[in-house]
Amino acid sequence: DTSHVGEGSIALVVSALLSTAGGFAVHKAISASGGTFIQAGLSGYDLCKKNTKTLIPESMGMISGTVFLMVMFLFTGIQFSRHVLASEKNFPHMVFEQLLTALLCICCMLLLGFADDVLNLKWRYKLVLPTLASLPLLMTHYVKFGSTTVVVPLLLRPLLGPSLNIGVLYYLYMSLLAVFSTNAINIYAGVNGLEVGQSVVMATSIAVFNLVELKGFHSSAHHLSLCLLMPFIATSFALFLHNKYPARAFVGDTFTYFAGMTFAVVGILGHFSKTVMLFFIPQLVNFAYSLPQLFRVIPCPRHRLPQYNAELDKLEYSRTTVRVKSLNPLVYRTICLLSALRLMAAEVTEKDAKHDGETTITVNNLTLINLVLVWSGPMHERTLVWTLLALQACGSALAFVIRYPLASLFYD
Ligand code: UD1
Ligand code: MG
Repeated sequence: DTSHVGEGSIALVVSALLSTAGGFAVHKAISASGGTFIQAGLSGYDLCKKNTKTLIPESMGMISGTVFLMVMFLFTGIQFSRHVLASEKNFPHMVFEQLLTALLCICCMLLLGFADDVLNLKWRYKLVLPTLASLPLLMTHYVKFGSTTVVVPLLLRPLLGPSLNIGVLYYLYMSLLAVFSTNAINIYAGVNGLEVGQSVVMATSIAVFNLVELKGFHSSAHHLSLCLLMPFIATSFALFLHNKYPARAFVGDTFTYFAGMTFAVVGILGHFSKTVMLFFIPQLVNFAYSLPQLFRVIPCPRHRLPQYNAELDKLEYSRTTVRVKSLNPLVYRTICLLSALRLMAAEVTEKDAKHDGETTITVNNLTLINLVLVWSGPMHERTLVWTLLALQACGSALAFVIRYPLASLFYD
């Protein structure tokens, strides 16, 4: 397994240099183009501020995503031109094909995200399009790795044997990964710097994992992943500098979809599509916690981001009110239980004047961001975001513990 992108370490140096240049380009381009985006109607109000009247340019992920693609195209040109110029017979077709498929998928999601920012797409498109966009990726995975066999944990081996061929389920899992990663990042959002901050932490953690595995069995796959992650980290970090508190730019769904697909792509092409999920622990928790609102068991407002408290100049958890009569009794009892366990904040109002004198229950909007505020009490937006990013980093640390010491208990 030696077919690296060009000479292994030279490729990494070239990628690092191009990435750094890309980072600076993104930083400059965002400062320069805010007005153009606002003129085009790509803007939003910062809802967690005292003054919500200033327009902030949105969809700035378009700039970081475009520069990312440009860096990747230049990198591909530089790395593969050597083979072309030498008119070698052993041109590394497989790696070339993988790289192009990766860029195709990522480019496609950038387009979908941008379409979502402009047109506000319906949920069904957000689920179907990433699934289809991941098809070419699954095909290159099939050509390169072919096998759909998973190693069975030691505990289950008496039942299932040492390995199990899960066939088409393996590919189903990988296309679901693309849908999950894009949407999971997008719904863990709403405070300055969180969308791009979490992505930078995740990308850096995955890059560290790739470095650890670089000498291992699937060395070329981890190498390719690094060549994709370095420009992603550099361009996203530049975006973060504009998006962090107090935000001068919003990233838009353009960025969240682009970032999610990048993680799915490196996981699939790097042949670590299960490990990559370990770096999504906060997103998994946020997604599971959100399910009642995503499936409308509890009403879901357009925005679930925290609420600004002008008196304290801090953020507190945002709330949703429901008539108790309209809730399934089982749901009502679950809310009471979760609130007793401090996993939710719930408050019953008898004869609520705002709701025709009926009894209502007010609960926090079900996001991890609000849950942290339920636990901590009101927090300043900057502190909240750094707390959430620290939580993301702890998630990554836990991922490494699960992947290395713990996994050796379950696998040999
Ligand atoms: C997702 C969330 C929504 C959350 C929103 C915030 C779900 C199902 N959807 O929706 O609850 O409110 O993201 O991004 O969970 N904004 C800020 N400060 C920020 C970032 C965003 O005020 O730091 C506001 C701005 O008005 C911005 C808007 O959110 O224009 C962008 O929201 P958008 O990305 O379109 O929301 P969704 O992804 O649909
Ligand atoms: Mg969004």
